[in-house]
Amino acid sequence: MSNSMSMIGGAILVLLLAGYIAQQYGLPPPKPKIVGIDLGTTFSSIGIYHAVTGRTTIIADDLGKKSVPSVVAFLSNGSVLVGTRAVDQQEKNPQRTIYDAKRFIGKVFQPDDEQFLADKKRYPFTVLLDKEGRAYFEIPLDSGNKLLYPEEVGSIIIEYLKEAAEKHVESKLSQVRFKY
Ligand SMILES: *[C@@H]1O[C@H](CO)[C@@H](O)[C@H](O)[C@H]1NC(C)=O
Repeated sequence: MSNSMSMIGGAILVLLLAGYIAQQYGLPPPKPKIVGIDLGTTFSSIGIYHAVTGRTTIIADDLGKKSVPSVVAFLSNGSVLVGTRAVDQQEKNPQRTIYDAKRFIGKVFQPDDEQFLADKKRYPFTVLLDKEGRAYFEIPLDSGNKLLYPEEVGSIIIEYLKEAAEKHVESKLSQVRFKY
């Protein structure tokens, strides 16, 4: 307990010190930035919290989209497309364009689960169950089948949003929190 307290104290001290040094050299003090990600079933977004005003602004990606489709696509050569770019090529690449991945996160299915079997039929891409009953996607690539868990699809979307935010604030984000 006292250990973690001093860790927090240390972090604030370092931040203040960095601000002080920056001031000494006439540089603007470093501003801590806090971002939040909403990973949604159909759309996802990322916002920056402004500590001074208490406001959050939603950041647009490089296509100007603040609401990014939660879609990840693979080209047969393994290239990855996210969001609007993935949606735009969905029709000609349905087997490799994954959407609705969040629906499968954290769930365990019986092989004869009716809802799962109905969903499996509905999707143009291949959804399978592993030995533990967790869903995964099988994506045919030139190099062979790529197996991907829904959590991995989520993390590709989070990475995309994180990069959009980093471009916006022109610095690297060290910690990203998100809620499902
Ligand atoms: C895969 O193909 C696309 C379009 O044909 C191309 O833009 C991309 O650079 C290729 N990726 C790799 C890894 O070769």
